[in-house]
Formats: sequence, C-alpha cells, structure tokens
Amino acid sequence: MAINGIKGFNDILPGEVEKWQHIEATARRVFELYGFAEIRVPILEKTELFSRSIGDATDIVEKEMYSFVDKGENCVTMRPEGTASVMRAFIEHKLYAADPVAKLYYMGPMFRYERPQKGRYRQFHQIGAEVTGVYDPKVDAQVLTMLCHFFAELGLEEPSLEINSLGCPVCRPAYRDALREFLLARLDKLCDDCKRRLETNPLRSLDCKAAGCKEATANAPSVLDHLCGECETHFGAVRHHLDLVGTTYTINSRMVRGLDYYTRTTFELVTSLLGAQSAVAAGGRYDGLISDLGGPSLPGIGFAMGVERVALLLADREFRKRPDLFIAALGEQAQQKAFTLMCALQERGLAVEIDYAGNSLKSQMRRSDKFKNRFTLIVGENELSRGMAVLKNMDAGTQADVPLTVDGVALGMLT
Ligand code: HAM
Repeated sequence: MAINGIKGFNDILPGEVEKWQHIEATARRVFELYGFAEIRVPILEKTELFSRSIGDATDIVEKEMYSFVDKGENCVTMRPEGTASVMRAFIEHKLYAADPVAKLYYMGPMFRYERPQKGRYRQFHQIGAEVTGVYDPKVDAQVLTMLCHFFAELGLEEPSLEINSLGCPVCRPAYRDALREFLLARLDKLCDDCKRRLETNPLRSLDCKAAGCKEATANAPSVLDHLCGECETHFGAVRHHLDLVGTTYTINSRMVRGLDYYTRTTFELVTSLLGAQSAVAAGGRYDGLISDLGGPSLPGIGFAMGVERVALLLADREFRKRPDLFIAALGEQAQQKAFTLMCALQERGLAVEIDYAGNSLKSQMRRSDKFKNRFTLIVGENELSRGMAVLKNMDAGTQADVPLTVDGVALGMLT
C-alpha cells in the first residue's frame, strides 16, 4: 500500500509553487526597500523559549506545540512561530551591540497542532519581519505601511488592516481587572475554556467564537478606554503617521492576540474571503520580550503572514513560467539536431523544451500547447537538408524561416 503524507502537512506542487515563489520574491523585494535583511533560524528550539515568550496560558503553548524529548533528554519544540527564535538569535549573537536597531525578515515552515481545515494547517509557512530598538511610533506606521505595500504589490485589494492597542504593564492590569469583573457577572454564558481562562487570560473571551461568549462580551469594556497617558499618546501618533502616508485602517478595540508578548500596537490584516481563517497577517509591538528572554531592555515590533492564506487570496492566478522555446523535431536526425540546439540555447540563457518521446508532429504540438512556450521551432528532414527551420511566434501567430543555427534561432526570437 502506498504511504501518504500526514494530515495537515501539505506538498506544494509545481504549478502552485510558482505562486509561492512569486510571494516570496515580492516580500524580499519590498522588505529590502525598507532596509530589512534576511535571518535564518532553526526549526527546533528549546521548549522553554516558546513557553516563556508566547505564554503558558495561550492555546499555542497549552495545546498546539510539537514538543518532544530528544535522544539527549532535551525538551525541544518545532517552532510554532518565528518571533521568539529571531529574538533568541538577536540576543545570543549580540546583534544589538553593533546597532540596537535591527530590521530582520524570515520565511519558512512553522508547526502547530491545530485542527486542519481550509487555510489552517499543522505545517504552515510564515513570512515575517521584526524591528528592534525603536519606541518611536513612526516605526509602527512604517511596518504597517510596508505590509500594506507588499499586498498592493501582489495586486490584492484584500486584506484590510485593523489596528488596536493592548496597553502596557502599567495600564493593562487595570483593564484586565475591569474585564474580569464584567465577565464574572456573566459567568453562566461563558464557555468552559473562557471560564478557565478568566484568571489567567480574560482578554481571550473577546476573541472567542462561542455564541454565549459573543453575547456575554457584546458590551464589554474597551481596552482603548483604559490606556495610560503614554500608551494613548503612542497609539494616537501611530494613527497620525498612518494617516500622513495614506495607509488606511480601521480600529478594532476587540482585537486580542493569541500570544502573550504583545504591548501597545497590535494589528491584523483580515479578509472575508477565507471563511473562518480571516487573518492573513498579524503582529504587534513586544516591548518587554527581549528583556524577558534575557536580552537588553529594547523594544520590538513585527508581523508574520501566512503564506498559504496569501496563496489562497491569489486564487487561480497563473504564475507558471513559460519556456521561451519548444523544438518540435521529426525524424532521428532532426531530433539529434533539436537536442544539441536545445543545450546550446539553454547555455545562452533561454528556457527550451523538446519532446523526448519522438512522437508525431501533432502530439509534439499538443505538448507544446501544454507548455505555453513563446516560440516553437519546427525541424523536419526537409528543413534539416536546407539548413533552415520554421520559427513560430505563438503569441503573434506569425512564422518565419530562420537559419538552423544557435545564432539564427536566437536572433529569430528577438525580431
Ligand atoms: P500569529 O497570529 O500566530 O502571529 O500568526 C501569524 C499568521 O500566520 C496568521 O495571521 C496566519 O495568517 C498564519 N497562521 C497562523 N497559524 C496558522 C495555521 N495553523 N495555518 C495556516 N496559517 C497560519 C505570529 O505568529 C507572530 N509571531 C506574529 C508576529 C511577528 N508578531 C510580532 N512579530
């Protein structure tokens, strides 16, 4: 019996992979315009890194991590996200010594034991970016503008940006208490998870999909009414700078994030096109994370997008690369000529295909149809003896005789 892949772990096949390459290339191009450099961090980290940064009371750490004890008795975890690893590397290699302001981006697979469905997988891929060392709200606005720029470059009108502020260690405890008190008066409506989390993480109820929790939190106090003076000024300045550069957003004061490290600005890029999986990208500020992980007291902000979700938004747009030329050859000698011509043209930098089976002209042309190549060269016995071949421009529908040489064909394709 054949062995299949594991549920929630997907293959990305030719045809689809070109879309991924386009997304990745666009991210690299746009992020580098904003001064970001790539960082590559390992997939496996000490479990403690994630429990300390993402938070013990989060769904990710409580239920979703791929953790195991390795052969050396170490507790290790396949990364469920990238921020913790990137900050671990930032601290470990003292990148801050040369410059506390680091702008880093990364891409790669992440692992969460979630229930797989459309847009939600157990191995999924993120492209993320992080900036350290800047408290100034201009950097919040710039990170958001860069993210919107990326989606605009992909030609996507969806998703749209929602922003919020979750306050800081000065003002959040009072908000948490106010919310907890509000929820305690509606305890009977809350789901078991939210009841359990009331002490450790009451904000999660604002995000709970259960009907009772939605009803109970309908008129819950807003975090934005509980910000301290500094957080309020910061959030005002983020909005001001977004307005200055024309980055459009809506404020969603009910947005809470599934990771505990956030302070102040949080955001999501949301869409209604992917059913339950509405967040295409998300992130925020984490001004306490670097010091919590044993590094210097430096702030940070960043985001990650789900590549599978971006690919779904690009739907059936075609990114498959077209070969420049297909050589159809009839007869043994012509096929030899086609082969040598193909190799020489490939060395010249042209993408060339032939039919290896030596089928009829009709079936070779069917294969050429599949490739959607820009040009087709037809070489038969007749052409061979004349030292000429027919070059068809498949887009223009025209054809011309060209010398059956590397230069002749290459030149024919230019004119
Ligand atoms: P997150 O909200 O957990 O944040 O994930 C970011 C994005 O990854 C989501 O918006 C979604 O597009 C995608 N994603 C998450 N889980 C899955 C899944 N199971 N299947 C498919 N896609 C998924 C973070 O991970 C933070 N590290 C973001 C960040 C960076 N914050 C600051 N810097």
